[in-house]
Amino acid sequence: MSKIIIAPSILSADFTDFSKAAEEIDASGAQWLHMDVMDGSFVKNLTFGPPLVRAIRGKTKAFLDVHLMIVQPGRYIKEFADAGADGISFHYEAEIHSHILLTEIRRFGLKAGIAVVPSTPVSVLEEVLPFVDLVMIMTVNPGFGGQQLIPQCLEKVKKLVKMRENAGLDFKISVDGGINETNVHNAVEAGADVLVMGSAFFGNSDKKGLVERLQSF
Ligand code: DX5
Ligand code: ZN
Repeated sequence: MSKIIIAPSILSADFTDFSKAAEEIDASGAQWLHMDVMDGSFVKNLTFGPPLVRAIRGKTKAFLDVHLMIVQPGRYIKEFADAGADGISFHYEAEIHSHILLTEIRRFGLKAGIAVVPSTPVSVLEEVLPFVDLVMIMTVNPGFGGQQLIPQCLEKVKKLVKMRENAGLDFKISVDGGINETNVHNAVEAGADVLVMGSAFFGNSDKKGLVERLQSF
């Protein structure tokens, strides 16, 4: 089995039918389901909160990868944990006390992740890397699906792979934003372990075939 994890993002699903989206994700063979929580403040867009995580939890066996694009993420960790998240990632740019929050997420028994926007260098993460299970490299400016990948962000993935090696750690690296079949090779070559995919997944009528191809890398 491939080590590449596919994480379809329901941001690109039909918002009137999340049951169908969860079924499609399970049927495709994707291991994770990515949920983009946006508050209209950290990013301009507004999406959903813990009630949808709870609802989706009842519909899928996939690992629920919750991506918080919200200010003061610490206010909501318990709510998302109680709702059934398997992993919670918050933004480095939204939290002064990253170390406290990562530790809290792990205390709930969840995988702890930290995300960075394109303009944030990965070097700022050095001190928290021992406390993360996942680093999410945003490959677009967060807020909306369907944007184009910013190629320079993949250089950050390469740097982070080196930092991980040097520190002898084993967290996963995910790429989020604008990933499609044309650029996915570059992301995997750079060292991504998890591929978040919104529009390219839900826009593909052969989701199983897509996931099989991606997993064969
Ligand atoms: C963007 C979100 C992404 C988004 C990806 O702010 O964090 O997870 O759903 O969608 P695509 O793959 O369409 O860029
Ligand atoms: Zn996301």
